[in-house]
Amino acid sequence: MSRSAHPAGPRHADVLTEGHYSAPAADLNVLDEKVWSRTVTRDADGGLTVGGIAVARLAEEFGTPAYFLDESDFRARCRAWSEAFGPDADVFYAGKAFLSRAVVRWLKEEGLNLDVCSGGELTTALDAGMPAERIAFHGNNKTVAEIERAVEAGIGRIVLDSFQEIVRVAHIAQRHGVRQRVQIRVTVGVEAHTHEFIATAHEDQKFGIALADGQAAEAVRRALSLDGLDLIGVHSHIGSQIFDMAGFEVSARRVVQLLAEIRDEHGVELPEIDLGGGLGIAYTSEDDPREPHEIAKALSDIVTRECEAAKLRTPRISVEPGRAIVGPTAFTLYEVGTIKPLEGLRTYVSVDGGMSDNIRTALYDAEYSVALVSRTSDAEPMLVRVVGKHCESGDIVVKDAFLPADLAPGDLIAVPATGAYCRSMASNYNHALRPPVVAVRDGEARVIVRRETEEDLLRLDVG
Ligand code: LLP
Repeated sequence: MSRSAHPAGPRHADVLTEGHYSAPAADLNVLDEKVWSRTVTRDADGGLTVGGIAVARLAEEFGTPAYFLDESDFRARCRAWSEAFGPDADVFYAGKAFLSRAVVRWLKEEGLNLDVCSGGELTTALDAGMPAERIAFHGNNKTVAEIERAVEAGIGRIVLDSFQEIVRVAHIAQRHGVRQRVQIRVTVGVEAHTHEFIATAHEDQKFGIALADGQAAEAVRRALSLDGLDLIGVHSHIGSQIFDMAGFEVSARRVVQLLAEIRDEHGVELPEIDLGGGLGIAYTSEDDPREPHEIAKALSDIVTRECEAAKLRTPRISVEPGRAIVGPTAFTLYEVGTIKPLEGLRTYVSVDGGMSDNIRTALYDAEYSVALVSRTSDAEPMLVRVVGKHCESGDIVVKDAFLPADLAPGDLIAVPATGAYCRSMASNYNHALRPPVVAVRDGEARVIVRRETEEDLLRLDVG
């Protein structure tokens, strides 16, 4: 394919249109390690390598678009979370960020637990051998069939999300002759600083039971009165992609206050609290995420302090990071197709994927970085918008970024930090074939979720 330079697009200095972008990095060839997984580097020829394998080779073998997941980075992040929280806490990986049988096996080997939120995730977890007692089941509308399956499997905990569900789970558990371990999900009234669609602990939304006006206390009363339930604690999840620890601290404080009220009213000290997931990661150089040990310390300090003040035994803490574990471990590799310079605006760079493999930009206005990875370039930076091949103008992968002005069709570009909520939210829009996920580790690459084929599409179409 041609590597010749196309007519250079507008340079950043000429562009005065609206958009959010900072000045280009001094050298576009330098990879910002904040946004790339740990084994990513450039080799002597300038091409990017991950797990010791050149992306050019990966593209040849697995095609594009494709997600490449750095397995040793994933495992290292699992270990960092469980070491940071220590033996008196539990880390549940949130499977909704990305789940596959291989991921379940890695979690099991690294000693993590797993949070699932659908029958499909539960099936994947059990099929790959995650012990049922290490699984938590979430969701605002679990079906009776899903609850039955979870109870039958001997699931570790079900997180109750409504008054109706308290009764539903209690009946099912009784029918199976068990006392199901449960937590109650409360909404603590925190407005986390994140996109509206992914903030979950303010009151006007569908999750949980409000602490305000005594709803959560009433839910506890009912759960304690039902034989089928073993109420082990209270759960709070305040949102996603959050950097500011203040929201978690308020949440922890309110949850501990509820434990104290429960002790005062019922004479029982619930042994556990779950503070959910939601920790932010770096999508661009401007993001500064906290390390797991800082998060663990901040949370355990506040819980310990509040419990001492309320004269409560410190409960066992659990957390549910999804994005913070898998997000930074993968990038999406695309081949550049059409390049369209729009005079005085910016250059549109079309890739062979788009909103079907990364809906986050269209849905949340998410920001991403991008780099030319099949070679280096000394050309000037040009302001680009990386777009997909779908039939709508909102099909944007990276809204504002800089790539070298000699970018040409056939070049490979990669978008880092796409491990979370990209493959798991991928669609077949325009009958796109969902890309594979390829795990790379120590010089070996293997497909863990294969690329969809046109036969897969036709197999479902039975009309
Ligand atoms: N626990 C519960 C109860 C949750 O609802 C979630 C995410 C998590 C844990 C994990 O949150 P994380 O650590 O991954 O932020 N699709 C959106 C994110 C939706 C999050 C839903 N719940 C996105 O792409 O940003």
